[in-house]
Amino acid sequence: MPIHYYEKSKSFKLDAKDTSYIMAVVDEEKFLGHVYFGERIPDEDVNYLMRLDEPPYVPSKNNRDRMSFLDSFPTEYPTSGLGDFREPCLKVLTKLGATACGIFYKSHKIYKGKPKLNGLPATFGNEDDCTTLEITCVDNHLNLEVILIYTVFEDLDVITRSVKVKNCSDEDIILTRVLSACVDFDRIDMDMVTLHGSWAREFHVKRRKVELGKQAVSSSRGETSHQANPFLALMDRNATEDFGEVYGFNLVYSGNFLAQVEGCQFDTTRVVMGINPFDFGWKLEPQEEFVAPEVVMVYSNEGIGKMSRTFHDLYRNHLIRGEYKNKRRPVLINSWEAAYFDFDTDKLLRLAREASKLGIEMLVMDDGWFGKRNSDNCSLGDWVVNEEKLKGGLKYLVDEVNKLGMKFGIWFEPEMVSPDSDLYRAHPDWCIHIDGREGTLCRNQYVLDLSRKEVRDYVYESVSNILRSANIKYVKWDMNRQLSDVGNCVLPPDRQREIWHRYVLGVYELMDRLTTEFPHILLENCSGGGGRFDPGMLYFSPQIWLSDDTDAIERLKIQHGASYVYPVSTMGAHISDCPNHIIGRITPFETRGLVALSGTFGYELDVTKISQEDKDMIPKQIEMYNKYNNLIYNGDLYRIGNPFENIEFECVEYVSKDKNEALVVYIQILNRSNYHSRRIPLKGLQKDAFYRNEETNEVFSGSALMNGGILIKGLQGDFRGKLFHFVHV
Ligand code: GLA
Repeated sequence: MPIHYYEKSKSFKLDAKDTSYIMAVVDEEKFLGHVYFGERIPDEDVNYLMRLDEPPYVPSKNNRDRMSFLDSFPTEYPTSGLGDFREPCLKVLTKLGATACGIFYKSHKIYKGKPKLNGLPATFGNEDDCTTLEITCVDNHLNLEVILIYTVFEDLDVITRSVKVKNCSDEDIILTRVLSACVDFDRIDMDMVTLHGSWAREFHVKRRKVELGKQAVSSSRGETSHQANPFLALMDRNATEDFGEVYGFNLVYSGNFLAQVEGCQFDTTRVVMGINPFDFGWKLEPQEEFVAPEVVMVYSNEGIGKMSRTFHDLYRNHLIRGEYKNKRRPVLINSWEAAYFDFDTDKLLRLAREASKLGIEMLVMDDGWFGKRNSDNCSLGDWVVNEEKLKGGLKYLVDEVNKLGMKFGIWFEPEMVSPDSDLYRAHPDWCIHIDGREGTLCRNQYVLDLSRKEVRDYVYESVSNILRSANIKYVKWDMNRQLSDVGNCVLPPDRQREIWHRYVLGVYELMDRLTTEFPHILLENCSGGGGRFDPGMLYFSPQIWLSDDTDAIERLKIQHGASYVYPVSTMGAHISDCPNHIIGRITPFETRGLVALSGTFGYELDVTKISQEDKDMIPKQIEMYNKYNNLIYNGDLYRIGNPFENIEFECVEYVSKDKNEALVVYIQILNRSNYHSRRIPLKGLQKDAFYRNEETNEVFSGSALMNGGILIKGLQGDFRGKLFHFVHV
């Protein structure tokens, strides 16, 4: 069993592939303490690590310094107000106005498999993949039960966690914070890595030293956000891509989050992660339960690269679902950068005709097909086809596209309403708002209150009616603003703070309905690009539009940062026009193709207007995508370059699981004058095996390729790229 309870030491030992995670119940009061997290160890009892024989002793030995004990003990799930002054995970508000709580071990159970989390996305696994431990703790004063849930994935270095809080009293209680996980590290000499950005500039990697005090990334925007991803990693100060201990944490959630590191007085470091307590509240009536979202913890003893590959394996096999999970996605052409709002049936068919000749397999009609939508100022919520633009209706257009042998996809922004819409005129109170206060507009739209069932039902019916009306094979689900003025006119005052989380649960419920009724539709999430690129969304859609910045060079950074956590198969990536619409940069068409290869691969430009030379390249690019897609989607990713540190080149390598094949994607960002060829050592191959360079037929050992490397030469100019394909001989 990968999870053991040792009665003698009262300790729990969780063993993932190369990882051990240990907790113990100590003292008569039954404190649950964190003992160890790191490389796998065989020992049953390492409780000495908690230093319980040093002052401040456990309370039963010396209650005089109870507070010192609470404030230094590595608590497994810290609570507020009783003497642990570091960041707590749980805080309440009682009828009397008290906020303190304290939990103690009561019981536990261990079982095969993994439970679902009610209403929330989560990783999954069967009885052969994983084992679960539930530890029930209680606050006897409040009559509150806290169930800590841990699942170990046996073949991966992954432990997942979540928390259930149950009100066993006969009075209401308000939860004002319920984080999902805490780990107290017995060291502070670590670096922290987080992913930051803005619209069109997501996933920029930031590395800094852990310092005394608090360092956090968070969102209070109602979605995970462009600005920060719900991820953090702690690592040895000298950890690199390939060496050193790295601990990755990722929250499976799509709303407000907190990911925080706190350097504490005795040079320990507390990590906490969960729903952002900022503006959070949840009323629990007697017998009600609150479930906090899942945190995925990954341990790597081989640097950041191995952490990423573990996240990728977990998400590809145990998070993403549906038909397209491990499958090649159709090569699409999206109308957004090709036409924006300016299209009609004829124009779309012209685009489709040309695209189909080039081998493109699906036309996606983006924003602008409904209501009176000719700009982003109106009509969100009115999911009725604009027949002035789509003459003959949607079915006619889809049928004509199908006749060309192409599939058809469509864009929605289901969570929004424009003030200038029939929906808003009929139901002005259906958006998130504070009565009497004028709401803050963003892109001239408000957010629909998806915490309300009648609003969800309307949205679902209007979206699904369209989907039922024609042969639609793909949906892009967009979400183009963040939440403000959070309130509604249905919940009582003491439940208003629940709206943030109820909104996210509402989105999940809608996506669940959609993917259940339309299991064959390929769903791509989007939030103005990567504003909601998180594991919660990946549970419903195997791919997410990574960024509105489609410039190949900007994308190198964005894709590099995103690959810290998310598999390449999840990253929406298109070849677009030049000068690039966001940044104005001009890059070769070929390079745009090489960069989009590390993603879902599609087009987003008017193929009727590009040069013949570029057009001729499209069938070859699609051939390249077909050839390497399986390797890229299902192989192991090794990052070789780092565009945040070196702006001369980016290089990634994909190695098949059996190590018989490798693809190196090399992009020269800025050329360097008077320089010899660049030597690039490869990674992840079999040392003793021999590999043939498919282009030159030269054969080298894995050892030579990994220690000596390959030489990159002959790339003249900036923004040039090249592929190297090696096959085992
Ligand atoms: C967002 C998306 C774009 C496009 C537009 C349409 O910005 O990220 O890809 O769909 O909305 O309005």
